[in-house]
Amino acid sequence: MTTSSSKMGKVENKQVIFKGYTDGSPVETDMELKHGNLIKLEAPKGSNVVVLKNLYLSCDTYMRGRMRDRHDSYIPPFLPGSAIEGYGVAKVVDSDCPDLKSGDIVSGLTNWEEYSLIQNTGQLKKIEQVDGIPLSYHLGLLGMPGFTAYAGFYEACAPKKGDYVFVSAATSAVGQLVGQLAKIYGCYVVGSTGTSQKVELLKNKLGFDEALNYKEESDLEAALARVAAVFFAALVVAGTMWYFPEGIDVYFDNVGGAMLDATIANMRNHGRIALCGILSQNNRNDPQSFRNMFSVISKRITMKGFLQSDFVHLYPRFLEDVTRYYKQGKIVYLEDMNDGLESAPAAFVGLFSGKNVGKQVIRVAKE
Ligand SMILES: NC(=O)c1ccc[n+]([C@@H]2O[C@H](COP(=O)([O-])OP(=O)(O)OC[C@H]3O[C@@H](n4cnc5c(N)ncnc54)[C@H](OP(=O)(O)O)[C@@H]3O)[C@@H](O)[C@H]2O)c1
Repeated sequence: MTTSSSKMGKVENKQVIFKGYTDGSPVETDMELKHGNLIKLEAPKGSNVVVLKNLYLSCDTYMRGRMRDRHDSYIPPFLPGSAIEGYGVAKVVDSDCPDLKSGDIVSGLTNWEEYSLIQNTGQLKKIEQVDGIPLSYHLGLLGMPGFTAYAGFYEACAPKKGDYVFVSAATSAVGQLVGQLAKIYGCYVVGSTGTSQKVELLKNKLGFDEALNYKEESDLEAALARVAAVFFAALVVAGTMWYFPEGIDVYFDNVGGAMLDATIANMRNHGRIALCGILSQNNRNDPQSFRNMFSVISKRITMKGFLQSDFVHLYPRFLEDVTRYYKQGKIVYLEDMNDGLESAPAAFVGLFSGKNVGKQVIRVAKE
């Protein structure tokens, strides 16, 4: 804060600015750290706005879609020259909104900057802090990604106890919770991920039954057939091999493309595929097509796309269930925390090469 600016009741507000629309893989130079912007930490009377001090910001892969000049999506593109908008956890510094007061902690859409003036206060959720649960988890385990996992698994996958469940991008913010919820539900769970370190985490920390490194597989279809054979072996051991044919009952798809195609070939009759995201296609201008679509017909597979926002009515139940599971030690959560607003562009870009291990969060300020 400069002397002259503090005299005017303004402080410096560092920002990460979105520079302009882009195709292909995002790079750090699509964003720019900007110094020198000043903000008055006061909510004007009669405005209904709040002023937030941002504590944690979330890096999410869906934000890549907002870097394209496309207006046909469920969310509008970013505005070039403005601070990037994203989910965050923040402290209310000043409020003209009757539902929020100074000192409250909230989560919701904010901007990639130190302080934000938020007009749409209706989307902010007041956080009731729970002992033993870090505030930053409201961007992952107890935030939008966690809720995506919860709604997607219980609603779009229509799971049954004993199902054989496959999850791609299994160490991601969403994937890691899907697998753990499936285990709690009584399913056999296999995940795919992109490094041997993450394979170990899936098996030894997150409790998946099996895991594979898709980057080491030249033939995904054969790799999944091997996974299906693991399922089959488990059934033989359980003495129920005649009861289920070999294959996958439920696929929670975070990646689309070749992995989806290979999984379709390895599904059981009446299998269910929840289409959550298309990580493998996000940065391509020539989306891949499918070879195995006939199996969707012959195996009577249900493929269901979903948006977490369709299931807001489940949010209270989600918070209660997942908080309880976490406190009981039934689930763990991997988080990848970077310090400082200036680390945000590199952390965001890293999502697309698998640099993050777990939910990627930026700590902007100390609580
Ligand atoms: N439908 C909805 O309402 C909804 C809501 C939220 C998120 N989503 C979707 O859910 C998916 C997971 O999101 P998230 O926030 O959990 O992800 P995340 O935590 O940001 O994780 C990204 C991880 O995905 C993997 N990945 C990146 N590029 C990949 C590629 N080309 N092919 C395969 N894997 C790749 C990388 O891990 P590896 O090392 O394993 O490659 C990376 O670490 C995304 O597709 C996202 O768009 C959907």
